Amino acid sequence: MSGLILGIETSCDDTSVALVDRSGHVAAIKTVSQFEIHEAFGGVYPELASRAHLEVILPTVQEVMTAASVTPDDLTAIGVTRGPGLIGSLLVGLSTAEALSMGWGVPAYGVNHLRGHIRSVELEGGKTEFPAVIMLVSGGHTLIAELKDPWSYRLLGSTRDDSVGESYDKVARMLGLGMPGGPAIDRAAQTGTPVLRLPRPMKNDAYEFSFSGLKSSVARHIEKHPDVSIEDMSASFVAACMDVLTAKADRALTECKPRSLVIVGGVAASRQLREAMGEVAGRHGVELCLPPMKWATDNAAMIAMATWDYVERGVQPELMPKPNLSLETP
Ligand code: KG4
Ligand code: ZN
Repeated sequence: MSGLILGIETSCDDTSVALVDRSGHVAAIKTVSQFEIHEAFGGVYPELASRAHLEVILPTVQEVMTAASVTPDDLTAIGVTRGPGLIGSLLVGLSTAEALSMGWGVPAYGVNHLRGHIRSVELEGGKTEFPAVIMLVSGGHTLIAELKDPWSYRLLGSTRDDSVGESYDKVARMLGLGMPGGPAIDRAAQTGTPVLRLPRPMKNDAYEFSFSGLKSSVARHIEKHPDVSIEDMSASFVAACMDVLTAKADRALTECKPRSLVIVGGVAASRQLREAMGEVAGRHGVELCLPPMKWATDNAAMIAMATWDYVERGVQPELMPKPNLSLETP
């Protein structure tokens, strides 16, 4: 076998390693979750995250290489997340990739995690039609941008406060649904009715987002009505998020006239969001590009996939952690 990229992702609380070929086929992947470590803290505890990455990273690389019967000679490159993310967590992935690169004589590329999300739609046979409007909805980010090709990018707008994923997580905590909040809210909302009136912050303000007011409004409602139905509250919150997100997507499709609408990031695992965006894309006659459900949230397959762009373009950012890396920088 030849022509595989070894992807390494340790930007937050999942240690993920994958082998991906040029077509986006995932030859092997393993993601070790740190869920149990951080659950008690109600959020990611950075120092514990880096220690946990350190413990499992090398055995995970070994396991993935063995599972796919791959040797270092089969690797075109190693791609590792260099940011954005937690500095200690990033350092573990980056130093591991650097050591493997030197030991194996395989080039290593520092990859932008956000580019990983964008390229996640190409995994397992997906294809992005350019020009594209992309919406990145994750725990760390909420932004909308226009992409003429994988490298020419124009930011249309981003959030002024919380990301949409973060507000899902916070509302889940208020409702006692635990971590990770997104999937729990998503599930509860499916059996609820969106009967509660919640605000749609900045719905009509071009491309900027704001979610903290929505979250506070949910908190106030729960305070006043502690016996509120969890399902109805979840459904009402999700409906408000969907209204805002689809309004921005709709505006971008009208103004940018792209060939596709690309929705990526952890919240792209939401069934409601997939359905709502399908309706918007259909109305505009553009292709809706989504990552496979299991690779919407953080994983190394998307990092390996994005690495192919770097290899082909000859862009090799240094293996230094960049906790605040933005989409403009490779
Ligand atoms: O992309 P991701 O794995 O990590 C970041 O790069 O931030 O996104 C994680 C976020 C979390 O806030 C999580 O609650 C949310 O994605 N999420 C979901 C779903 N699955 C994960 N939100 C809504 N519905 C889901 N099914
Ligand atoms: Zn992510």
